Amino acid sequence: MKGIICYYSGSGNTKLACEYIVKNIKDVEIDLFNIAKDGIPDLEQYDIVGFATFANVLGPPYLMQTFIKRLPRQKDKPAFVFNTYGFISGKTLKILGKWAVAKGFRVIIGHSLHTPENCPPMIVSGRGNEQAPNKKELEDFNNFISELSQLIESKGVRQKKIKIGLLNSLLPVLPHTVIRKVMGKKYVDASLCVECGTCEKVCPYGAIKLKPKPIFDMSKCYGCWACYNHCPNKAIYAKKCRGIGHYPEPNNQLKEKLKI
Ligand SMILES: Cc1cc2nc3c(=O)[nH]c(=O)nc-3n(C[C@H](O)[C@H](O)[C@H](O)COP(=O)(O)O)c2cc1C
Ligand code: SF4
Ligand code: SF4
Repeated sequence: MKGIICYYSGSGNTKLACEYIVKNIKDVEIDLFNIAKDGIPDLEQYDIVGFATFANVLGPPYLMQTFIKRLPRQKDKPAFVFNTYGFISGKTLKILGKWAVAKGFRVIIGHSLHTPENCPPMIVSGRGNEQAPNKKELEDFNNFISELSQLIESKGVRQKKIKIGLLNSLLPVLPHTVIRKVMGKKYVDASLCVECGTCEKVCPYGAIKLKPKPIFDMSKCYGCWACYNHCPNKAIYAKKCRGIGHYPEPNNQLKEKLKI
């Protein structure tokens, strides 16, 4: 059995969780595919396709939607959905599943894993959830991986309904344009910027051009905070945060819990 997980991860929590799935799943060889970098994969050679990303203001990021839309139409190919979240996922998992189904996939299972926050304003306000996941959440994640392998073994004949809980289901689905406004205008501290180009490279939406310091195109920006989080000199700032709350990679406790 061969599978592929198509993932989008801003700070690496989702990527790490996907690597953990790959390491711990039984009897399935899984390739990882970074949708922000790798274009479109050839899905023909895979028996199962995973879509993995993070909660992005109560829903999946726009990049995942555009990626799924660009895939060739499927005839019932088994798929699973997965997301990490820092506080509350909202309808992230349900929407991910909906996008996959609309493309012709048959979604057989889904799971959300609680991880630390990578959204700087949340971290600054003391809601960084640095210790997530707790013991029970980690146990649930491991159970999901076992179930996933059993469902794949059944050749996707069996499937499990995606449940997101009452609170998540009551939360609204926000349009992607709202997400752009949440971060708002970005600025660069010229005295800190060394024109290294990291921000341009990590922006998944092509919203930054180096001239020679970064210039932001607000019409393309989706407020993902990747440029802020990854700038090695903390030169990028927004109204809500300046110089604090950066989360460029999974924290040590998460790396320890998801050791591979
Ligand atoms: C712009 C933005 C919006 C976010 N929105 C949510 C959210 O609505 N709910 C939530 O629980 N976490 C939210 N988060 C936190 C991330 O989902 C969480 O930290 C995730 O593990 C990050 O995954 P990554 O490291 O793979 O990018 C948000 C993070 C960012 C940067
Ligand atoms: S990542 Fe930071 S230092 Fe590098 S070009 Fe962008 S703003 Fe300047
Ligand atoms: S400009 Fe920054 S916040 Fe906007 S999409 Fe690009 S990386 Fe994300």
